[in-house]
Amino acid sequence: MIVLGIESTAHTFGVGIVDDNGRILADQRIQHRPKEGGIRPRDSAQMMSERGADVIKAALDEAKISIQDVNAIAYAIGPGLGPCLRTGAIAARFLAAKYNKPLVGVNHCIAHIEIGKLVGKIRDPLVVYLSGANTQIIALANGRYRIFGETLDIGLGNLLDSWGRKVGIPFPAGPKIEELAKQGKKFIPLPYTVKGSDLAFSGLYTAAVRATEKHDIADVAYSLQEVAFSMVAEVAERALAHTEKGEVLLVGGVAANKRLQKIMRIMAEGHNASLHVVPMKYAADNGIMIAWTGLLMYRAGITTPLSAPINPKFRTDQVDVVWADYETPDA
Ligand code: ATP
Ligand code: FE2
Repeated sequence: MIVLGIESTAHTFGVGIVDDNGRILADQRIQHRPKEGGIRPRDSAQMMSERGADVIKAALDEAKISIQDVNAIAYAIGPGLGPCLRTGAIAARFLAAKYNKPLVGVNHCIAHIEIGKLVGKIRDPLVVYLSGANTQIIALANGRYRIFGETLDIGLGNLLDSWGRKVGIPFPAGPKIEELAKQGKKFIPLPYTVKGSDLAFSGLYTAAVRATEKHDIADVAYSLQEVAFSMVAEVAERALAHTEKGEVLLVGGVAANKRLQKIMRIMAEGHNASLHVVPMKYAADNGIMIAWTGLLMYRAGITTPLSAPINPKFRTDQVDVVWADYETPDA
Protein backbone atom coordinates (compact mmCIF):
# COMPACT_ATOMS: atom_id res chain seq x y z
CA MET A 1 0.00 0.00 0.00
CA ILE A 2 1.24 3.48 -0.91
CA VAL A 3 -0.09 6.77 0.48
CA LEU A 4 0.71 10.32 -0.61
CA GLY A 5 0.39 12.95 2.13
CA ILE A 6 0.11 16.74 1.90
CA GLU A 7 1.13 19.05 4.78
CA SER A 8 0.04 22.70 4.60
CA THR A 9 -0.87 23.86 8.13
CA ALA A 10 1.39 26.93 8.34
CA HIS A 11 4.70 27.77 6.65
CA THR A 12 5.53 24.46 4.96
CA PHE A 13 3.98 22.81 1.91
CA GLY A 14 5.25 19.26 2.16
CA VAL A 15 4.47 16.17 0.12
CA GLY A 16 5.51 12.76 1.41
CA ILE A 17 4.99 9.28 0.01
CA VAL A 18 5.24 6.18 2.21
CA ASP A 19 4.45 2.49 1.97
CA ASP A 20 2.99 0.13 4.56
CA ASN A 21 6.43 -1.10 5.63
CA GLY A 22 7.06 2.43 6.88
CA ARG A 23 9.45 3.11 4.02
CA ILE A 24 9.78 6.73 2.96
CA LEU A 25 9.59 6.89 -0.83
CA ALA A 26 9.53 10.67 -1.20
CA ASP A 27 9.93 13.79 0.93
CA GLN A 28 9.54 17.16 -0.80
CA ARG A 29 9.03 20.46 1.00
CA ILE A 30 8.98 24.18 0.34
CA GLN A 31 8.77 26.86 3.01
CA HIS A 32 7.31 30.34 3.25
CA ARG A 33 9.87 32.54 4.99
CA PRO A 34 8.71 36.07 5.73
CA LYS A 35 11.57 38.61 5.69
CA GLU A 36 10.49 39.93 9.06
CA GLY A 37 7.84 39.23 11.70
CA GLY A 38 5.62 36.14 11.86
CA ILE A 39 3.94 34.10 9.14
CA ARG A 40 1.37 35.90 7.01
CA PRO A 41 -1.25 33.21 6.35
CA ARG A 42 -2.34 34.66 3.00
CA ASP A 43 1.22 34.98 1.69
CA SER A 44 1.99 31.43 2.78
CA ALA A 45 -1.19 30.12 1.12
CA GLN A 46 -0.36 32.09 -2.03
CA MET A 47 3.05 30.39 -2.21
CA MET A 48 1.39 27.01 -1.70
CA SER A 49 -1.13 27.51 -4.49
CA GLU A 50 1.53 28.79 -6.91
CA ARG A 51 4.11 26.06 -6.28
CA GLY A 52 2.16 23.18 -4.71
CA ALA A 53 1.57 21.27 -7.96
CA ASP A 54 5.32 21.25 -8.67
CA VAL A 55 6.01 19.83 -5.20
CA ILE A 56 3.47 17.03 -5.76
CA LYS A 57 5.06 16.23 -9.11
CA ALA A 58 8.57 16.28 -7.61
CA ALA A 59 7.46 13.81 -4.90
CA LEU A 60 6.00 11.40 -7.49
CA ASP A 61 9.23 11.67 -9.52
CA GLU A 62 11.34 11.04 -6.42
CA ALA A 63 9.30 7.93 -5.58
CA LYS A 64 9.45 6.87 -9.25
CA ILE A 65 5.72 6.19 -9.31
CA SER A 66 2.68 7.69 -11.02
CA ILE A 67 -0.38 8.98 -9.21
CA GLN A 68 -2.19 5.80 -10.36
CA ASP A 69 0.08 3.75 -8.05
CA VAL A 70 -1.07 5.65 -4.97
CA ASN A 71 -3.75 3.92 -2.87
CA ALA A 72 -4.96 6.97 -0.92
CA ILE A 73 -4.44 10.73 -0.65
CA ALA A 74 -3.87 12.07 2.88
CA TYR A 75 -3.81 15.74 3.89
CA ALA A 76 -3.60 17.79 7.08
CA ILE A 77 -7.19 18.79 7.87
CA GLY A 78 -6.18 20.79 11.03
CA PRO A 79 -5.18 22.39 13.33
CA GLY A 80 -3.52 25.27 11.54
CA LEU A 81 -4.01 28.50 9.62
CA GLY A 82 -7.24 28.59 7.58
CA PRO A 83 -5.91 29.84 4.22
CA CYS A 84 -2.98 27.38 4.30
CA LEU A 85 -5.10 24.40 5.35
CA ARG A 86 -7.61 25.23 2.62
CA THR A 87 -4.94 25.28 -0.08
CA GLY A 88 -3.62 21.83 0.87
CA ALA A 89 -7.15 20.46 1.17
CA ILE A 90 -8.08 21.71 -2.31
CA ALA A 91 -5.02 20.00 -3.79
CA ALA A 92 -5.84 16.75 -1.98
CA ARG A 93 -9.53 16.84 -2.97
CA PHE A 94 -8.60 17.53 -6.57
CA LEU A 95 -6.26 14.52 -6.73
CA ALA A 96 -8.81 12.29 -5.01
CA ALA A 97 -11.65 13.33 -7.31
CA LYS A 98 -9.69 13.31 -10.55
CA TYR A 99 -7.94 9.98 -9.99
CA ASN A 100 -10.75 8.35 -8.02
CA LYS A 101 -8.68 7.79 -4.85
CA PRO A 102 -9.89 7.69 -1.24
CA LEU A 103 -9.17 10.79 0.83
CA VAL A 104 -7.93 10.79 4.46
CA GLY A 105 -7.96 13.97 6.59
CA VAL A 106 -5.20 13.82 9.22
CA ASN A 107 -4.78 15.68 12.52
CA HIS A 108 -1.42 17.50 12.26
CA CYS A 109 -0.45 17.04 15.93
CA ILE A 110 -1.16 13.31 15.81
CA ALA A 111 0.99 13.10 12.67
CA HIS A 112 3.91 14.59 14.66
CA ILE A 113 3.41 11.75 17.18
CA GLU A 114 3.03 8.92 14.66
CA ILE A 115 6.14 9.86 12.68
CA GLY A 116 8.09 10.05 15.95
CA LYS A 117 6.94 6.54 16.82
CA LEU A 118 7.84 5.24 13.35
CA VAL A 119 11.37 6.66 13.08
CA GLY A 120 12.18 6.01 16.75
CA LYS A 121 10.66 2.48 16.63
CA ILE A 122 8.56 3.22 19.69
CA ARG A 123 5.29 1.57 20.63
CA ASP A 124 3.43 3.53 23.25
CA PRO A 125 5.18 6.63 24.60
CA LEU A 126 4.30 9.56 26.80
CA VAL A 127 4.61 12.37 24.24
CA VAL A 128 5.98 15.78 25.16
CA TYR A 129 5.07 18.03 22.21
CA LEU A 130 6.94 21.35 22.36
CA SER A 131 6.75 23.55 19.27
CA GLY A 132 6.31 27.24 18.64
CA ALA A 133 2.55 27.17 19.02
CA ASN A 134 1.94 23.94 20.95
CA THR A 135 2.91 22.71 24.40
CA GLN A 136 1.16 19.46 25.27
CA ILE A 137 1.80 16.34 27.33
CA ILE A 138 0.00 13.49 25.54
CA ALA A 139 -0.50 9.76 25.99
CA LEU A 140 -2.68 7.14 24.38
CA ALA A 141 -5.35 6.06 26.87
CA ASN A 142 -8.66 4.34 26.15
CA GLY A 143 -8.47 4.82 22.40
CA ARG A 144 -7.51 8.48 22.21
CA TYR A 145 -4.39 10.60 22.48
CA ARG A 146 -5.36 12.27 25.76
CA ILE A 147 -3.90 15.62 26.73
CA PHE A 148 -2.59 15.28 30.28
CA GLY A 149 -1.40 18.86 30.45
CA GLU A 150 -0.97 21.85 28.16
CA THR A 151 -0.19 25.53 28.07
CA LEU A 152 -3.02 27.85 29.05
CA ASP A 153 -1.56 30.76 27.10
CA ILE A 154 1.45 30.75 24.73
CA GLY A 155 3.55 27.82 23.50
CA LEU A 156 7.05 27.22 24.89
CA GLY A 157 8.67 28.08 21.52
CA ASN A 158 6.67 31.31 21.35
CA LEU A 159 7.89 32.19 24.84
CA LEU A 160 11.51 31.84 23.69
CA ASP A 161 10.91 33.60 20.35
CA SER A 162 9.00 36.50 21.95
CA TRP A 163 11.66 37.07 24.61
CA GLY A 164 14.31 36.78 21.89
CA ARG A 165 12.60 39.45 19.80
CA LYS A 166 12.56 41.82 22.81
CA VAL A 167 16.30 41.42 23.38
CA GLY A 168 17.26 41.56 19.70
CA ILE A 169 17.60 37.85 18.83
CA PRO A 170 15.93 37.12 15.48
CA PHE A 171 13.37 34.34 14.89
CA PRO A 172 13.72 31.47 15.62
CA ALA A 173 15.39 32.49 18.88
CA GLY A 174 15.48 29.05 20.55
CA PRO A 175 18.89 27.88 19.28
CA LYS A 176 20.60 31.21 20.13
CA ILE A 177 19.02 31.33 23.58
CA GLU A 178 20.38 27.82 24.17
CA GLU A 179 23.92 29.04 23.35
CA LEU A 180 23.53 32.21 25.42
CA ALA A 181 22.23 30.24 28.40
CA LYS A 182 25.46 28.24 28.53
CA GLN A 183 27.27 31.47 29.48
CA GLY A 184 24.82 32.24 32.28
CA LYS A 185 26.32 32.07 35.78
CA LYS A 186 23.69 33.46 38.11
CA PHE A 187 20.16 32.11 38.59
CA ILE A 188 17.56 34.87 38.68
CA PRO A 189 14.26 33.77 40.26
CA LEU A 190 11.41 34.05 37.73
CA PRO A 191 7.70 33.11 38.04
CA TYR A 192 7.08 29.38 37.89
CA THR A 193 3.43 28.75 36.91
CA VAL A 194 2.04 25.22 37.01
CA LYS A 195 -1.72 24.97 37.54
CA GLY A 196 -2.69 21.38 38.21
CA SER A 197 -1.27 19.69 35.14
CA ASP A 198 -1.34 22.79 32.96
CA LEU A 199 1.26 25.49 32.36
CA ALA A 200 1.26 29.24 31.79
CA PHE A 201 4.19 31.15 30.32
CA SER A 202 3.04 34.76 29.92
CA GLY A 203 3.99 35.83 33.48
CA LEU A 204 7.40 34.27 32.97
CA TYR A 205 7.75 36.16 29.68
CA THR A 206 6.94 39.54 31.24
CA ALA A 207 9.29 38.95 34.20
CA ALA A 208 12.11 37.78 31.91
CA VAL A 209 11.76 40.91 29.76
CA ARG A 210 11.91 43.09 32.90
CA ALA A 211 14.89 41.15 34.27
CA THR A 212 17.02 42.18 31.27
CA GLU A 213 16.91 45.81 32.53
CA LYS A 214 18.86 44.87 35.66
CA HIS A 215 20.69 41.65 34.86
CA ASP A 216 23.13 40.17 32.41
CA ILE A 217 21.27 38.83 29.36
CA ALA A 218 23.05 35.44 29.55
CA ASP A 219 21.94 35.03 33.17
CA VAL A 220 18.35 35.78 32.14
CA ALA A 221 18.52 33.32 29.21
CA TYR A 222 19.85 30.64 31.55
CA SER A 223 17.18 31.32 34.20
CA LEU A 224 14.39 31.51 31.63
CA GLN A 225 15.32 28.08 30.27
CA GLU A 226 15.71 26.52 33.72
CA VAL A 227 12.30 27.74 34.91
CA ALA A 228 10.39 26.97 31.70
CA PHE A 229 11.93 23.51 31.23
CA SER A 230 11.41 22.62 34.91
CA MET A 231 7.72 23.49 34.55
CA VAL A 232 7.43 21.15 31.55
CA ALA A 233 9.33 18.42 33.41
CA GLU A 234 7.00 18.69 36.41
CA VAL A 235 3.80 18.15 34.40
CA ALA A 236 5.44 15.48 32.25
CA GLU A 237 6.60 13.63 35.37
CA ARG A 238 3.12 13.69 36.85
CA ALA A 239 1.68 12.24 33.63
CA LEU A 240 4.43 9.62 33.47
CA ALA A 241 3.83 8.51 37.06
CA HIS A 242 0.10 8.29 36.30
CA THR A 243 0.29 6.47 32.94
CA GLU A 244 3.38 4.33 33.74
CA LYS A 245 4.53 4.45 30.10
CA GLY A 246 7.98 2.97 29.43
CA GLU A 247 9.03 5.59 26.88
CA VAL A 248 9.05 9.38 26.70
CA LEU A 249 9.02 10.92 23.21
CA LEU A 250 10.05 14.54 22.70
CA VAL A 251 8.56 16.09 19.55
CA GLY A 252 8.42 19.65 18.11
CA GLY A 253 11.15 22.19 17.41
CA VAL A 254 12.03 22.95 21.04
CA ALA A 255 12.94 19.25 21.49
CA ALA A 256 16.27 20.10 19.79
CA ASN A 257 17.41 21.84 23.00
CA LYS A 258 20.14 19.79 24.73
CA ARG A 259 19.48 21.23 28.19
CA LEU A 260 15.81 20.32 27.88
CA GLN A 261 16.76 16.80 26.74
CA LYS A 262 19.01 16.39 29.77
CA ILE A 263 16.29 17.46 32.22
CA MET A 264 13.75 15.20 30.52
CA ARG A 265 16.17 12.24 30.48
CA ILE A 266 16.78 12.52 34.23
CA MET A 267 13.03 12.77 34.80
CA ALA A 268 12.24 9.76 32.55
CA GLU A 269 14.96 7.53 33.95
CA GLY A 270 13.72 8.25 37.45
CA HIS A 271 10.57 6.39 36.37
CA ASN A 272 12.36 3.59 34.49
CA ALA A 273 11.37 5.09 31.15
CA SER A 274 13.68 5.75 28.19
CA LEU A 275 13.89 9.14 26.45
CA HIS A 276 13.58 9.46 22.67
CA VAL A 277 13.96 12.63 20.63
CA VAL A 278 12.56 12.91 17.11
CA PRO A 279 15.41 13.75 14.68
CA MET A 280 15.05 17.36 13.48
CA LYS A 281 14.42 16.27 9.89
CA TYR A 282 11.18 14.59 10.97
CA ALA A 283 10.35 16.99 13.81
CA ALA A 284 9.78 19.92 11.44
CA ASP A 285 6.49 20.01 9.52
CA ASN A 286 6.61 17.59 6.58
CA GLY A 287 4.42 15.57 4.24
CA ILE A 288 5.79 12.17 5.32
CA MET A 289 4.14 12.39 8.73
CA ILE A 290 0.79 13.13 7.07
CA ALA A 291 1.24 10.27 4.58
CA TRP A 292 2.22 7.80 7.33
CA THR A 293 -0.66 8.74 9.65
CA GLY A 294 -3.02 8.70 6.67
CA LEU A 295 -1.81 5.19 5.85
CA LEU A 296 -2.42 3.98 9.41
CA MET A 297 -5.92 5.49 9.32
CA TYR A 298 -6.80 4.23 5.84
CA ARG A 299 -5.60 0.72 6.73
CA ALA A 300 -7.93 0.85 9.72
CA GLY A 301 -10.86 1.74 7.44
CA ILE A 302 -11.03 5.52 7.85
CA THR A 303 -11.74 7.80 4.89
CA THR A 304 -12.85 11.42 4.71
CA PRO A 305 -15.60 12.70 2.38
CA LEU A 306 -14.63 15.18 -0.33
CA SER A 307 -17.02 17.67 1.25
CA ALA A 308 -15.35 17.62 4.71
CA PRO A 309 -14.42 21.13 5.87
CA ILE A 310 -10.94 21.96 7.21
CA ASN A 311 -10.71 22.23 11.01
CA PRO A 312 -8.32 25.03 12.13
CA LYS A 313 -8.94 24.27 15.81
CA PHE A 314 -8.82 20.47 15.58
CA ARG A 315 -7.63 19.05 18.91
CA THR A 316 -5.36 16.07 19.47
CA ASP A 317 -7.93 14.40 21.74
CA GLN A 318 -10.83 14.59 19.26
CA VAL A 319 -9.68 11.63 17.16
CA ASP A 320 -10.56 7.99 17.83
CA VAL A 321 -7.23 6.21 17.45
CA VAL A 322 -8.68 3.01 16.01
CA TRP A 323 -5.39 2.13 14.28
CA ALA A 324 -3.45 1.80 17.53
CA ASP A 325 -3.57 -2.00 17.48
CA TYR A 326 -1.30 -2.03 14.47
CA GLU A 327 2.31 -2.44 15.43
CA THR A 328 4.96 0.09 14.54
CA PRO A 329 7.26 -1.58 11.96
CA ASP A 330 10.34 -2.99 13.74
CA ALA A 331 9.28 -1.71 17.17
P1 ATP B 1 3.57 23.39 15.11
O1 ATP B 1 2.77 23.76 13.91
O2 ATP B 1 3.66 21.89 15.25
O3 ATP B 1 3.15 24.07 16.37
P2 ATP B 1 5.77 25.24 14.80
O4 ATP B 1 6.08 25.64 13.40
O5 ATP B 1 5.08 26.20 15.69
O6 ATP B 1 5.07 23.83 14.78
P3 ATP B 1 8.31 23.91 15.25
O7 ATP B 1 8.83 24.10 13.85
O8 ATP B 1 8.01 22.55 15.70
O9 ATP B 1 7.11 24.89 15.56
O10 ATP B 1 9.35 24.55 16.28
C1 ATP B 1 9.78 25.88 16.17
C2 ATP B 1 10.18 26.37 17.55
O11 ATP B 1 11.29 25.60 18.05
C3 ATP B 1 10.61 27.81 17.55
O12 ATP B 1 9.89 28.47 18.58
C4 ATP B 1 12.10 27.75 17.87
O13 ATP B 1 12.58 28.86 18.61
C5 ATP B 1 12.18 26.47 18.69
N1 ATP B 1 13.52 25.89 18.73
C6 ATP B 1 14.25 25.42 17.69
N2 ATP B 1 15.47 25.00 18.12
C7 ATP B 1 15.51 25.20 19.46
C8 ATP B 1 16.48 24.99 20.49
N3 ATP B 1 17.68 24.49 20.22
N4 ATP B 1 16.14 25.32 21.75
C9 ATP B 1 14.92 25.82 22.03
N5 ATP B 1 13.97 26.05 21.12
C10 ATP B 1 14.25 25.75 19.86
FE1 FE2 C 1 3.88 21.16 13.28
